[in-house]
Amino acid sequence: MKIAIIGLGYVGLVTAAVLASQGNQVIGIDIDKKKIESLLNGNIPIFEPGLEEKIKCSASNLEFTDNFDHIRDATLAYICVPTPNFNGKMDLKYVLSASEEIRKRSKEITIVIKSTVLPGTAKKVSEVTGLTVISNPEFTREGSAISDTEKPDRVVIGGFSTKLVQQLWSFTKAPMIVTSNENAELIKYASNSFLAVKISFINQIADLCETIPNTDVNEVAIGMGLDKRIGKDFLKAGLGYGGSCFPKDTVAISSYAQERGVELTIVKSAINYNDQRIRDLARKVNDLSDSVNGKSVCVLGLSFKDNTDDIRESRSLLLMKELEMYGAKVIAYDPIVNNLKSVKICKNMDECIKKSEIVITSTEWSEFSQINKDILKGKMVFDLRRVLEPKDFKIVMGVGNGKN
Ligand code: UGA
Repeated sequence: MKIAIIGLGYVGLVTAAVLASQGNQVIGIDIDKKKIESLLNGNIPIFEPGLEEKIKCSASNLEFTDNFDHIRDATLAYICVPTPNFNGKMDLKYVLSASEEIRKRSKEITIVIKSTVLPGTAKKVSEVTGLTVISNPEFTREGSAISDTEKPDRVVIGGFSTKLVQQLWSFTKAPMIVTSNENAELIKYASNSFLAVKISFINQIADLCETIPNTDVNEVAIGMGLDKRIGKDFLKAGLGYGGSCFPKDTVAISSYAQERGVELTIVKSAINYNDQRIRDLARKVNDLSDSVNGKSVCVLGLSFKDNTDDIRESRSLLLMKELEMYGAKVIAYDPIVNNLKSVKICKNMDECIKKSEIVITSTEWSEFSQINKDILKGKMVFDLRRVLEPKDFKIVMGVGNGKN
């Protein structure tokens, strides 16, 4: 199939690479000329495990351009542009401008919206373009986006005339939910909100564990997760959820619901708790270390989660700001992120630790679980992602570990 992918961020680029690797003719389009230049020179602008290899292997089926005229050659035009929040509400400007570019070039093409959009958006895009619009939300996580796209738990397709899109994803062999546009759009928000609620829930249980000797949230999570009705995933306590999706989507669906007279109190409570959590954790670090004021603090991990270079809504960055308000002198190390204006970043993890009195693990990079025990000796360690084995290290505080 000939497919145009508009918007080459984390979602668009992965979708383009995977669809090209399945033998489709894919043309990736982006308004960012620098990004296109970089891609044409073989440089992948983001870090996503397996993406570079996938793009290289599928090079004969994959083209990149900033020229929207190439849309004319395609049967399906995928919209993968950002849907940021503006004043707490979803801003559709990029989706609408991409739709307009498509409308100007073809009267037959089918638009497929992969961007996360509120119910009613596909209908609106169809009204303004006069084209068939299919909703096909993605459920991929950064860091494992390739395998999530190739082997998803389900494929959700909304709208009429969905046959081509069904055919396109049939290689995944995943269950397909073929439904209305609105259902497909809502499934995405309901899923992300539910996962955000799950994370806030386990983090509150972690708070409780810290007050009860001989409890450990990790073990409680295992015990809960074996119940199939609950499930084991997304029960990892930590700093709370960050990234470009959960914070944005939970807020957008809450205000959308509110406009319709429905208070999503559970989602709102998860949002409020997630916001509060960073302040609580900074206070705990300050109290348990007998004040961080004037002390050097090493924060390990800057991305919003492991296996990505994405720092959007990173919890580490928020924590660092809070600690600085307490007077801490913060330095940081990250396996990939090595250039940020807001903090001094060390090139080497051991060096970063050696220079500090207090060490905080704030992203669950596997590298951190290999820290040399001797280097951590004499340091005040706060394991806020539970990457360290408590029996191997002297840890002042591990999230959700009630100790004894
Ligand atoms: C999330 C969803 O998981 C995807 O299904 C969805 O497609 C994507 O948003 C999106 O809407 O585009 P992503 O933001 O890449 O994916 O990352 P997650 O793995 O979901 O992690 C989100 C945040 O929750 C991270 O800060 C992570 O550290 C945190 N988290 C996750 C926890 O604190 N505990 C957990 O158990 C799981």
